[in-house]
Amino acid sequence: MSQPHVLLLGAPGAGKGTQSERLAEAFDIEHVTTGDALRANKDMDLSHMDTEYDTPRAYMEAGELVPDEVVNEIVKTALEEADGYVLDGYPRNLDQAEYLSDITDLDAVIFLDVSEDELVDRLTGRRVCDDCGANYHVEFNPPETEGVCDKCGGDLIQRDDDTEDTVRERLRVYEENTEPVVEHYRDEGVLVEIDGEDTPDDVFDAVKSAVEDAAN
Ligand code: AP5
Ligand code: MG
Ligand code: ZN
Repeated sequence: MSQPHVLLLGAPGAGKGTQSERLAEAFDIEHVTTGDALRANKDMDLSHMDTEYDTPRAYMEAGELVPDEVVNEIVKTALEEADGYVLDGYPRNLDQAEYLSDITDLDAVIFLDVSEDELVDRLTGRRVCDDCGANYHVEFNPPETEGVCDKCGGDLIQRDDDTEDTVRERLRVYEENTEPVVEHYRDEGVLVEIDGEDTPDDVFDAVKSAVEDAAN
């Protein structure tokens, strides 16, 4: 196999970003994440599309899914430019999963399993670097100096959608739209399920082994 094509699935807060960042470094592959791509283009004008809101920001702050046509295009472009990749935050519904299967082949599909109570604690305590996007948690994964990124010295901020009410809505949207996607890969017999409640290091060991196994 050339560079691996990895799909990392999991609820909001399951650790997709944390683990994708490490996988990208370990295997020298691209981290393709629709969430970060949309955050970088929050005020993109969608008014020419027949959509409910006019910007990604409005969907994200409500905890709703951004329209498929927007995210499909982001993923298509990113995958065309990547040899190997780890895909994080996409597909989030069955239509996106179908689109994905038309544009690429996956080597490993990994699901990070985390309970709902733990997800809420993780998201409400998360802090992200305003400059490089690195993830921290005030309690579970604190930076060396409070409020400052270990990697680049940038400011650590709370994401707009990490308030308790929006977190609950994101979890509801996940259950309704994305759990069927997890089920779809489970039915296909390709899903590798990993306990996402272990420490970040232990989860990474399991994720890394799953990718290595897929390569053999
Ligand atoms: P997105 O940015 O993808 O958010 P998400 O799926 O809700 O996931 P998160 O990024 O919140 O969690 P994560 O799994 O990456 O966890 P992390 O590693 O940070 O999407 C945001 C929005 O964009 C969506 O709501 C939607 O509006 C839109 N969007 C994106 N993709 C879309 C798509 N395909 N279609 C339509 N709309 C789309 O970890 C969380 C916290 O836990 C951190 O603080 C971390 O330090 C900590 N942590 C991680 N691992 C552990 C561990 N093992 N133990 C303890 N703490 C841990
Ligand atoms: Mg993320
Ligand atoms: Zn940083």
